[in-house]
Amino acid sequence: MGAGAAGLFFAAKAGEQGKRVLVLDHAKRLCEKIRISGGGRCNFTNLGCEPKHFLSENPKFAISALRGYRAHDFLAEVEAAGIPWEEKKLGQLFCQRSAQDIIDLLLDGCCRAGVIVKSGATIGEVGHDGGAFTVTAEGQRLTAPALVIATGGKSIPKIGATGFGYEVARQFGLPVIEPRPALVPLTFGGPIREMAKELAGLSIDASVAAAAPPGTKKKAKPPAFEDGFLFTHRGLSGPSVLQASSYWREGQALEIDLAPARDMAATLRERKARGGAVTMPVALAEHLPKRLAQKLAEHHGWQGRLADWPDRRIEEAADKLHRWQPLPDGSEGYRTAEVTAGGVDTAALHSKTMEAKSLPGLYFVGEVVDVTGWLGGYNFQWAWASAVAAAKAL
Ligand code: FDA
Repeated sequence: MGAGAAGLFFAAKAGEQGKRVLVLDHAKRLCEKIRISGGGRCNFTNLGCEPKHFLSENPKFAISALRGYRAHDFLAEVEAAGIPWEEKKLGQLFCQRSAQDIIDLLLDGCCRAGVIVKSGATIGEVGHDGGAFTVTAEGQRLTAPALVIATGGKSIPKIGATGFGYEVARQFGLPVIEPRPALVPLTFGGPIREMAKELAGLSIDASVAAAAPPGTKKKAKPPAFEDGFLFTHRGLSGPSVLQASSYWREGQALEIDLAPARDMAATLRERKARGGAVTMPVALAEHLPKRLAQKLAEHHGWQGRLADWPDRRIEEAADKLHRWQPLPDGSEGYRTAEVTAGGVDTAALHSKTMEAKSLPGLYFVGEVVDVTGWLGGYNFQWAWASAVAAAKAL
């Protein structure tokens, strides 16, 4: 079920081993998510992929599959298919031409392995009669000894995402970790929304983390991500915010360092010592975009000549720049989220094979599982690796 990244890769690998595979997908146009991924050039893996780049209730679950099929293994397939690729920052590998190259790789793999792929297939009931799985699709009743759920998460319903996989899991008694949008822009109300609206489109480098609840041990604190940071009409986005959003929960603030490369207290004290009639917004604008410096000064009430500021006030302002803690009122939701965090509880699956512990023959691969990667090619690597784990087990 599901002819996306994980479903097609699974089918090709299982087909290569001589299995008869039928892939059903309700979308009329297949692989739309791959097509729009990586800005149209599909960030298909990350050379630095490690289990620490994934969120899950059980962070150890993904280790076995990720070790069994690594970034270099997928890269070898990309090269064998003659697809030109390039490395962007941080080991992120992209197609040089377009994501269509990865779609072709998957569909050609299925074709060579004799896999039947049906798009536009309305799926009805799924069942298990004690011996085989049954599926009604297009008025037909199909039976199979194994059923692989690769229907992804709920992100981007416009191109076919549904919670189907979670329903199948629940139907067979498997627990589901509450799904939530991840890698998603965050929204704000009140003065921060007003400020964001006026600065929409402006981007800087910043470090962003979901603030941990008080008392959280250092080791358990969500990681901080230093990367692009973007103001939007409704709040904040950019890679650093998207990454932090995966760790963010309703009611939590963010912790943002707007000048991670510089000690702003020392910088502003030094500017004050040089003398002159420079005001705080002007001093800030020497290190931040002018519009941002002005808005921050308005927002925090930082006015007047820097020369008149006591050092203690400078320290407080610097602290706000390095530890700004705005409170999001929500996220842009599944409409724009790149992935869905949560999903089929890994406690119910074998980590080596992705098979349900309670029902042999039922597998879950890809994003439908409670394994969610960071931004940067990790989610596709999970799709490939979990698919291979299941295909090897069949
Ligand atoms: P995927 O969502 O790909 O496929 C699920 C399939 O199941 C779909 O074809 C769907 O139509 C089908 N389906 C759903 N419900 C069904 C039903 N009820 N009946 C039948 N079929 C059903 N990741 C990355 O590593 N690098 C990147 O560059 C990007 N970029 C990116 C950009 C954008 C805009 C998005 C939204 C996402 C990304 N991602 C990404 C994430 C990545 O695309 C995602 O994690 C994988 O596609 C997940 O693969 P799956 O096969 O698990 O699900």
